[in-house]
Amino acid sequence: MHNALGAVQSLLVLGGASDIGAAIAARLAADGCHSIVLAGRRAEAMEPVAARLRDAGAEVALTHWDATDIGSHGDAVKAAWDAVPGGGDVDCVVLAAGVLGDQARIEAEPAAAAELITTNFTGPTTTLLHVAQRMREQGHGTIIVLSSVAGERVRRSNFVYGSSKAGLDALAQGLGDSLVDAGVRVLVVRPGFVHTSMTAGREAAPLATTAEAVAEATAAALAGSRDVVWVPGTLRWLMASFRHLPRPVWRKVAAGR
Ligand SMILES: NC(=O)c1ccc[n+]([C@@H]2O[C@H](COP(=O)([O-])OP(=O)(O)OC[C@H]3O[C@@H](n4cnc5c(N)ncnc54)[C@H](OP(=O)(O)O)[C@@H]3O)[C@@H](O)[C@H]2O)c1
Repeated sequence: MHNALGAVQSLLVLGGASDIGAAIAARLAADGCHSIVLAGRRAEAMEPVAARLRDAGAEVALTHWDATDIGSHGDAVKAAWDAVPGGGDVDCVVLAAGVLGDQARIEAEPAAAAELITTNFTGPTTTLLHVAQRMREQGHGTIIVLSSVAGERVRRSNFVYGSSKAGLDALAQGLGDSLVDAGVRVLVVRPGFVHTSMTAGREAAPLATTAEAVAEATAAALAGSRDVVWVPGTLRWLMASFRHLPRPVWRKVAAGR
């Protein structure tokens, strides 16, 4: 349960080795979250994250979750709930898994699009529906979904990734509406370019930010009542105007011309 100040006490990170997921977990651990489950496909990648969280005073468990293994998601969500150190409910779930993919390869080999879409959209959808059932049963909780500006207006350079994020963002909004009366909140986080493993080696976009800044903005949003947070916040206004640009103009803007 949330403590007397309303802070998260137990957390599940889906995509437990994600740089942004790890930064959010560290930020919430600093606020007193003491029971954390990291769920992902590679325990060896999550171990260093777990070690840092333990150093910060949290108890941490690792469980297996692969976004592409659709049939396993019910059991994986149950296993994550059962693994909460000290037992009890999960106050907050962060969906932080995702792949950027290689747009050129996807266009050359269309079958590659399926894995990206399964990882970023189909798998998160089935997993979050299981999470929603659990949160309905416990009668409280927050689900944080890592969306992206890439889904707000899709760009030619990564339109398959952008489409998967547009789908995930829409899913998260609808899920939030479906859970309002159950006392469960869905918070959609829409970062721009973030310096993480996902973007390593790529030229930074304007307004590039850090995983720690995303975590800070997420923690601030958790303490309030908004259901969407942009990081950095200026992107909200920028994307509001980009969203309505005629397509020929958008093509030039998105290509930096
Ligand atoms: N970085 C950015 O610029 C940016 C901007 C906007 C939104 N986002 C979104 O933020 C989220 C976190 O990204 P990040 O920057 O923290 O990237 P990251 O450090 O590369 O983390 C992505 C995580 O997704 C996990 N993952 C990939 N495929 C998976 C699968 N099939 N099953 C389970 N986990 C899987 C990876 O696990 P492995 O360790 O097993 O590979 C990795 O831990 C993503 O949803 C991303 O789309 C990122």
